Amino acid sequence: MSATHTRIDSVGIVLAAGHGSRMRSKIPKPLHKAAGKELIGYSVDLLAECGMQTIVVVASPGNIDAISAALGDRVNYAVQPTPEGTAEAVSRGLQALDSVPGTVTVMAADTPLVRNKSMRMLIDEHCSRPGCRMSILTAPDAFGPDLGHIKRADASDSNTVGPISAIVEARDRHANSVGPAEVNTGVYCFDGPWLTQHINEVPKSPSGEYYLTALASMAANNGQEAVAAPFACADEAMGVNDRQQLSAVEAVLRDRVNCRWMLDGVTIVDPATTYIDAAVTIGPDTVIQPNTMLGGRTTVGADCEIGPNSVVRDSEIGDRCHIMASVIEGSLVHEDVGIGPYSHLRPQAVIESGVHLGNYVEVKNSRVGSGTAAGHFCYLGDADIGADVNIGAGTITCNYDGVDKHRTVVGDRAFIGSDTMLVAPVSVGPQGLTGAGSVVTKDVPPGGRVVGVPARLLPSNDEE
Ligand code: UD1
Ligand code: CA
Repeated sequence: MSATHTRIDSVGIVLAAGHGSRMRSKIPKPLHKAAGKELIGYSVDLLAECGMQTIVVVASPGNIDAISAALGDRVNYAVQPTPEGTAEAVSRGLQALDSVPGTVTVMAADTPLVRNKSMRMLIDEHCSRPGCRMSILTAPDAFGPDLGHIKRADASDSNTVGPISAIVEARDRHANSVGPAEVNTGVYCFDGPWLTQHINEVPKSPSGEYYLTALASMAANNGQEAVAAPFACADEAMGVNDRQQLSAVEAVLRDRVNCRWMLDGVTIVDPATTYIDAAVTIGPDTVIQPNTMLGGRTTVGADCEIGPNSVVRDSEIGDRCHIMASVIEGSLVHEDVGIGPYSHLRPQAVIESGVHLGNYVEVKNSRVGSGTAAGHFCYLGDADIGADVNIGAGTITCNYDGVDKHRTVVGDRAFIGSDTMLVAPVSVGPQGLTGAGSVVTKDVPPGGRVVGVPARLLPSNDEE
């Protein structure tokens, strides 16, 4: 099999060109986030995990820039100039390919709950039936008053066997029609040549759109095989068309993420108040206390205790850390660190091993060396603090002169007295000492002791 053939034989198309008007948002629907990840990211990742080497995202003229900024060049793009329906969108996606693929897998950008296992079963089922033109992933109807209903040819059959005869869209159903037991998840495998040949024959629906789902009855009416594969669980069919559905999907994703980490050896004391984004990783025997959010690209090591009441975002936390009632953003925390309650690490804080940051300590763009302690009420901004330094209560780096930011450097084993103002740029040498209430405007030499406002160097012990 040539490389080209392999590539073109596994094509995924993601439909993302709809108006998304029910979201009432200036943000394109595919870029709304659930569990910290864009909706469309779930579809693209799923298709990639299931072996699609070529993925075409069909975007609209209005959202292509934002979508391509989010997804980059891991996918190809097609534009659907006006949202004339899902069949027209697929047609645009096919036009973006240089040759006709053997199999085409299609899904929407607004169904992030489809499981990898279900998708693989659908693909396997489709590939095991060489004559099959269209295989549709279906689910029991639990959440879908707005989903397409699956109609089987023999209505006397139990609901999930027998050939499919049609998919009936919600807006085209009679108001008093009884819902069937089976709905369309919007995930399909098609025979590529058949799809390419028939996609432009889809008739306009009563609502004026070209429905991709019409292909099911077109195949059935022509005596060709279309199968509804009932492999999905009910929650997988949940789509995001409005904000209420977004929150419902979010709840399912959160639950799945929490369950996954609990199975991997993480204790989550109260899953109902624990919010862990999809991309977060957590080591075993870590305990997540209630009211805690782990967001963005955060990694947490093993044997940590995070929370209660903590937010950690885009940060790396080493093993055996304890973070209580604190906020950590864009920071790197090494192992055996204790933080909080009520401390705040802002971006580019690097906290080395064994550090203790207690109550109301704010650190920004600073390194705090191993073994250093800052127990109470501190601001350390644009600072480089060495190892085993004691930072007294109320110490502040005065890093901003009204125009520019300046750095403060404190050497190893220095002792910074309570309420010291370090007026940057300034340094305190290794083992230097500042007295309580010092306003340090000049560099303190190694081992030097300063006191007062502005701080003056005391004679060395030898001279006394
Ligand atoms: C669609 C299916 C429905 C299925 C449901 C699953 C059709 C006609 N109906 O309904 O059977 O149960 O998904 O979630 O396909 N899109 C375009 N161009 C368009 C229209 C839509 O790219 O012209 C995209 C949308 O951005 C969206 C996806 O296609 O990602 C589905 O469109 P949407 O309008 O949400 O369809 P549903 O009404 O949910
Ligand atoms: Ca939808």
